[in-house]
Amino acid sequence: MDKYAVFGNPIKHSKSPAIHKQFAISLGEQIDYRAILAPIDNFEKTVSNFFAQGGKGANVTMPFKEQAFAMADELTPLAKIVGAVNTLKKQADGTLLGDNTDGIGFVSDLLANNVSITGKRILIIGAGGAARGVVLPLLDHQPQEVVIVNRTAEKAQNLAKLFAQHGNVSGYGFNNLPENDYALIINSTSSSMNDELPALDQKHITNCEVAYDMFYSLQNTIFMNWVAQYNSKTKLLDGSGMLVGQAAQAYYVWRNKMPAILPVVNALKQGAL
Ligand code: ATR
Repeated sequence: MDKYAVFGNPIKHSKSPAIHKQFAISLGEQIDYRAILAPIDNFEKTVSNFFAQGGKGANVTMPFKEQAFAMADELTPLAKIVGAVNTLKKQADGTLLGDNTDGIGFVSDLLANNVSITGKRILIIGAGGAARGVVLPLLDHQPQEVVIVNRTAEKAQNLAKLFAQHGNVSGYGFNNLPENDYALIINSTSSSMNDELPALDQKHITNCEVAYDMFYSLQNTIFMNWVAQYNSKTKLLDGSGMLVGQAAQAYYVWRNKMPAILPVVNALKQGAL
């Protein structure tokens, strides 16, 4: 049976083995996918051993995505620009390909939920690693514009500059964010993890069609509840779809077959995984 694993620290609560098992069942395949705790100071050796023992592919989660980027022999263009790798694949010649499926997984989840991107004005809150991963996959769908707003304005501006040649993208701090109709608002900050709200003025969410919190949660996050309070028509999504979507894209990178996302998201939300 082909061997796969997810590496992280901590890793005990990872849903990836259950998600990949569901994918394999849905496609009538059999894979061996497990969660492996990598010591903080020994990631590369742990992963190298896994591949030396016949591993076909690996997912990489916190805090090792930059180290996975550094150890890949070859990088996809997206992984190169994002500077982080969440998917490693052993290639036929024995070399390791590093990819980043977070952004494509995010966009697949939007599309699976019938959220249109093309022609829309999109606001991304936050300018860290999570935001960096989704800008290019969003721009690939020709939105009207992507606006990044961050507590530290300079980071938003730098991120916008990085992608400026790929589309209409700009960066601001919360106090000078232009007032506009943002159809899709994405919270990419880690604020929901601490039950905090980003300092976005309520005027920016007036015409929000979809609010997406990248944080994975079984209940609505504080950000989703805040949007719902001012705009009852807004469709609310959390990061569970992105979690499953990035996994589905990794499965595709390894095995050239694309699993369906929504049945697995539903199972995850029902606590069945
Ligand atoms: P990740 O890889 O998850 O994106 P990161 O690179 O550490 O994590 O970035 C965290 C992001 O969340 C940053 O944009 C951070 O804002 P700053 O750049 O100003 O630090 C943002 N963030 C975290 N907590 C926040 C809060 N309570 N309110 C607003 N932004 C917050």
